[in-house]
Amino acid sequence: MRVWAVANQKGGVGKTTTTVALAGLLAEQGHKVLMIDLDPHGSLTSYFGYDPDSLNASSYQLFQGEGNMTSDEILGLATGTSVPGLTIMPTSPALATVERQMTGKDGMGLRVNKAMKVINGEFDYVLLDCPPVLGVLMINALAACERLVVPVQTEFLALKGLERMTRTMQMIQKARPQPLQFTVVPTMFDRRTQASISSLNTLRKNYSANLWRATIPVDTRLRDASKHGKIPSQYDSDGRAVRAYRQLLNHLLEEQKQCDKLTA
Ligand SMILES: Nc1ncnc2c1ncn2[C@@H]1O[C@H](COP(=O)(O)OP(=O)(O)O)[C@@H](O)[C@H]1O
Ligand SMILES: [Mg+2]
Repeated sequence: MRVWAVANQKGGVGKTTTTVALAGLLAEQGHKVLMIDLDPHGSLTSYFGYDPDSLNASSYQLFQGEGNMTSDEILGLATGTSVPGLTIMPTSPALATVERQMTGKDGMGLRVNKAMKVINGEFDYVLLDCPPVLGVLMINALAACERLVVPVQTEFLALKGLERMTRTMQMIQKARPQPLQFTVVPTMFDRRTQASISSLNTLRKNYSANLWRATIPVDTRLRDASKHGKIPSQYDSDGRAVRAYRQLLNHLLEEQKQCDKLTA
C-alpha cells in the first residue's frame, strides 16, 4: 500500500484538486484507492457530495481515544464514491479542535501513520489531502506518507509559501526513518501571463532537483468538474488539465519505481 500526501502551507494552490485528479486516475487504472480528508474545511468531502457538518464517521475519529482502532473500525470511517475503486474518508469540522487537544500528548504526530499500518494492504494507494496549516494534522500526513506532492500556484506569493513548506519538510526529515520524497508541481499555469512564466523560471532555478518539469495549466473545466461532483478525468477526459494530470501521475509512478530500485 502506497501512501502519498498532497500538502502545501498555502491555501487555494490546487491541493484538493490534485488529490481528486490523481486518485481518480489511479482508480481508473484499476487500483483500489482511499482518499483521506485531513482538512477541517472539508473541500474534498464536499466535492463528493458529503456534508462535513452532518457526518458521524470521519477522519476525526483517528485522533480520538488512545488511537488503538482496529482495521474494521478504521475502514468503517470510509465510504464509497460513484467511481468504482475510489473510497473517501471524509472530514469533520471537529478535526480543527485536534490541534489543541493533541498538543503535548504522546504519539500525537503518528495517529495517521499508525492507522495506515493497521489497514496496510486494504488499498493500493492512499492519498492524504492536507490543510494549509503547519500543525498536528499536516505533521501526521508527512509522517505517514512515503511520497509528498506539493502543488504550487505559479504566482509570486505562492513561491513564498513554498519556502515555508520546504523548511517544514527539512524539519520532518530528521524525525523520519526514511527520507521524504517530494515533488513540486506547478499549478494553474497560464502561459499568457508574465507572473506565471517568471514564477515557473524561479521554481526551475531553485527547486530543479524536486520539480516536475511540466505544469498543470489553468483550466476552468476543473472547477466545473468539482461543481458537478465528478472526478476531472470523467468530466472532461481529454481536457488539457486532465492530460497534464495523467502526465504527472506517470511521472510520480516512474519516480516511485526508481526509488524502489534504489532501496531494494
Ligand atoms: N489548474 C486549475 N485551473 C483552474 N482552476 C483550478 C485549477 N486547480 C484548481 N483550481 C480551482 O482553484 C480553487 C482552489 O483549488 P483547491 O484544489 O481547492 O486548492 P487547495 O486545496 O490548495 O485549497 C478551486 O475552485 C479549484 O476548482
Ligand atoms: Mg483543499
